Amino acid sequence: MRFSSTLFAALVGIASAQQTNQSGFDTWDTLRLSPDSAFHFQLLILLGMSTYRGADVADVLGAANAIVPGSFTSFNATFAELATLKQAQALATRNKVSARDTFFQAASYWRYADFFNHGNQSDPILNEYWDKQLECFAAANNALPVPGEYVTIPTPYNFSSIGIFYAADNDKSTPKPTLLVGNGFDASQENSYHASCAGAVERGWNCMTYEGPGQPTVRRQQKIGFIAEWERVVTPVVDYLANRTDVDMNRLALSGLSLGGYLAERAAAFEPRIKALLVNPGVKSGQDGFVGNLPPELKELFESGNKTAFDTTILAALGNSSTPSLVRWGVDYGLWAMNTNSTFEFLTMAGAMNMTGLYDRLTMPIWVANGLRDDLLAQSLDFVEEVKNFTNVTVATFPGPEGYHCEPGADTATNREMFEWLESVFE
Ligand SMILES: *[C@@H]1O[C@H](CO)[C@@H](O)[C@H](O)[C@H]1NC(C)=O
Ligand SMILES: *[C@@H]1O[C@H](CO)[C@@H](O)[C@H](O)[C@H]1NC(C)=O
Ligand SMILES: *[C@@H]1O[C@H](CO)[C@@H](O)[C@H](O)[C@H]1NC(C)=O
Ligand SMILES: *[C@@H]1O[C@H](CO)[C@@H](O)[C@H](O)[C@H]1NC(C)=O
Ligand SMILES: *[C@@H]1O[C@H](CO)[C@@H](O)[C@H](O)[C@H]1NC(C)=O
Ligand SMILES: *[C@@H]1O[C@H](CO)[C@@H](O)[C@H](O)[C@H]1NC(C)=O
Ligand SMILES: *[C@@H]1O[C@H](CO)[C@@H](O)[C@H](O)[C@H]1NC(C)=O
Ligand SMILES: *[C@@H]1O[C@H](CO)[C@@H](O)[C@H](O)[C@H]1NC(C)=O
Ligand SMILES: *[C@@H]1O[C@H](CO)[C@@H](O)[C@H](O)[C@H]1NC(C)=O
Ligand SMILES: *[C@@H]1O[C@H](CO)[C@@H](O)[C@H](O)[C@H]1NC(C)=O
Ligand SMILES: *[C@@H]1O[C@H](CO)[C@@H](O)[C@H](O)[C@H]1NC(C)=O
Repeated sequence: MRFSSTLFAALVGIASAQQTNQSGFDTWDTLRLSPDSAFHFQLLILLGMSTYRGADVADVLGAANAIVPGSFTSFNATFAELATLKQAQALATRNKVSARDTFFQAASYWRYADFFNHGNQSDPILNEYWDKQLECFAAANNALPVPGEYVTIPTPYNFSSIGIFYAADNDKSTPKPTLLVGNGFDASQENSYHASCAGAVERGWNCMTYEGPGQPTVRRQQKIGFIAEWERVVTPVVDYLANRTDVDMNRLALSGLSLGGYLAERAAAFEPRIKALLVNPGVKSGQDGFVGNLPPELKELFESGNKTAFDTTILAALGNSSTPSLVRWGVDYGLWAMNTNSTFEFLTMAGAMNMTGLYDRLTMPIWVANGLRDDLLAQSLDFVEEVKNFTNVTVATFPGPEGYHCEPGADTATNREMFEWLESVFE
């Protein structure tokens, strides 16, 4: 189905009008939380998580001050100390709501202790911290007004999808609109609770988070790295939702964050039961996101196709303290998440994560976040060009200090834009 070019022009017209700087706010960069840009970005995300009870502001600012730029060990130790403290406080707390809030914080801080800690794939610490975050998050979840339901969903492949279903309320007989949320390369479904589901449930929506191969808990528990064929993960989850009496399948939306933009697009291309798609940001190729962040010499070497030379050069760079944390972490984390020991293979596998040839299958309405300060995966407008002939596309532009990758620290603004659009699509 072709999309009316006049209506499209109207929608994009609104979007581009928003892109011109209208106020000082649009030109403000955010305050730096660390001179180390990779640390700064993670700290900003965590600070933002305080909006929906995933952190306390003082904890994050204290940690920001304590962490030594460039030192993964310092980042690790700071958050492990904070997590240990919060977990002990939660366990010693009588009041259920207080314990819940503190357990949510402990879970976040264990995830942060883990984050820059993937350099040695056989170090048992990779599982130890994660098991603690799972335990703390489950304890917090139990004390929610309507606790999320943990599910393991078999697939016809060599993995199971996992998820947590947060019902809008206890009424099982009324079908309600439902937001299915997937994260991307490194974030977990526990992050997505704070970023998306807490706000969705407040608005009377069911919300389900899920993970598949390569994502934090599935990678650990099932030992399976990322796959590009993400419909294999999502279609079984949609089967699960279709079976629930409290889910309105006519109002089912799928959202993808970060590299999850690709994962959601790919799944939606094969899953017509998804009635609305939200991508933050829009993604054409996962590989461009990674390779685009390499220094030019490394980028050129990768593109030359010499695997041995590329892998050897990367190994040398990892041992060099002047290599930026983002590159060191990206390689450490990517090797683990893709389940390989070759950076060349990791980036080649990320190449399979592209939407070439699939755009015309995206016929459900699409919402695309466009953060004007996104320097990690800035493909939203290119993605819009590819899909605009096939469906209705709405671009939400974030020009101000909310406009970094996935709008860290601006969860209420992101939710506002997402639900304004969702409610108009499903009215
Ligand atoms: C808007 O502000 C950003 C950030 O300062 C700047 O890079 C950009 O050029 C500005 N755009 C316009 C149209 O003034
Ligand atoms: C993080 O801390 C744990 C526990 O002390 C240790 O086993 C691990 O090697 C540390 N990782 C880094 C990158 O310092
Ligand atoms: C990785 O961790 C394992 C298990 O703790 C340890 O035996 C090994 O020495 C570590 N490797 C490196 C390179 O630190
Ligand atoms: C799972 O299947 C994929 C192919 O879809 C294969 O690449 C991978 O090695 C398999 N992993 C395990 C642990 O069986
Ligand atoms: C749907 O529910 C039926 C009956 O409870 C069950 O047998 C079936 O396995 C469920 N299917 C899915 C995909 O959850
Ligand atoms: C790959 O790079 C290595 C080291 O620079 C070099 O010795 C080798 O000839 C190159 N291989 C190819 C196929 O270019
Ligand atoms: C580390 O990297 C810097 C910047 O790329 C380079 O100047 C320096 O020679 C490297 N050091 C080693 C020991 O390779
Ligand atoms: C990568 O190397 C580590 C340590 O040698 C090993 O434990 C792991 O199985 C290897 N992974 C793959 C996918 O080969
Ligand atoms: C894009 O994905 C397809 C299917 O996975 C793959 O065949 C193709 O090589 C990928 N393109 C690039 C540039 O990696
Ligand atoms: C969209 O439609 C226009 C006008 O028919 C055409 O020129 C353009 O190539 C199409 N773009 C895509 C990505 O299909
Ligand atoms: C776009 O939205 C309009 C208004 O809701 C609708 O009439 C039209 O069919 C939609 N077009 C496509 C291609 O979905």
